[in-house]
Amino acid sequence: MGNKYVSNFVSLPIVYWRGLRRRIRNLYCKLALKSMGKGCSISDRVALFCPENISLGDKVILNDGVILQSCEDTAVEICDNVVLSYDAMILTGGIDPTGRVHGHLSFPVVIKDRVWIGARAIVLPGVTIGEDAVVAAGSVVTKDVPPNTLVAGVPAQFVKKLEANMNSERKQLPDRMEHEGEK
Ligand SMILES: CC(C)(COP(=O)(O)OP(=O)(O)OC[C@H]1O[C@@H](n2cnc3c(N)ncnc32)[C@H](O)[C@@H]1OP(=O)(O)O)[C@@H](O)C(=O)NCCC(=O)NCCS
Repeated sequence: MGNKYVSNFVSLPIVYWRGLRRRIRNLYCKLALKSMGKGCSISDRVALFCPENISLGDKVILNDGVILQSCEDTAVEICDNVVLSYDAMILTGGIDPTGRVHGHLSFPVVIKDRVWIGARAIVLPGVTIGEDAVVAAGSVVTKDVPPNTLVAGVPAQFVKKLEANMNSERKQLPDRMEHEGEK
């Protein structure tokens, strides 16, 4: 019994501190991003470059280590119910490999509804990923991915067609913020 009180005494402030940090982070994102929908969950160690050109839909989950690189002249658009797993990277810009002078090149990236991007996958500039597509862990996506498609590898190749609505449970992703608020 006594142990329970001691562990509550230790763990409760940690739980509240984590909740507070998450709320501060979400508030920062609301202010800094071009737009941010309801119920998004943004973990620690998420890096946002040019956040004013990044838009997030409803219930987007950005796990630890995610990098969203937008540029001054290009946007990252992430639609509803998208999940980016650990260390996934979305890139819109880089150096023109053919230029003698290091010219900057950038192209927008669009990730449509209910896409799941696996851990450590990289989405390169100019790519659009269609609704309900899945990008396997560690893939490098160089071309557009059609809806309801699983791609994998470096460069990412077509693996199989996914059933329409296969990711439908993600359509009802819980509102993380609401749940956290209940704790
Ligand atoms: C894609 C994934 C979901 C598996 O889906 P699946 O429908 O069960 O696919 P399978 O395991 O049947 O694999 C199908 C093919 O894709 C290949 N494949 C699967 N994942 C791959 C990957 N990450 N990289 C390269 N190839 C991969 C398999 O080798 C298989 O190839 P084959 O047909 O030549 O044998 C899983 O491999 C994956 O990448 N998960 C991501 C996990 C993650 O990031 N978790 C973070 C927590 S949110």
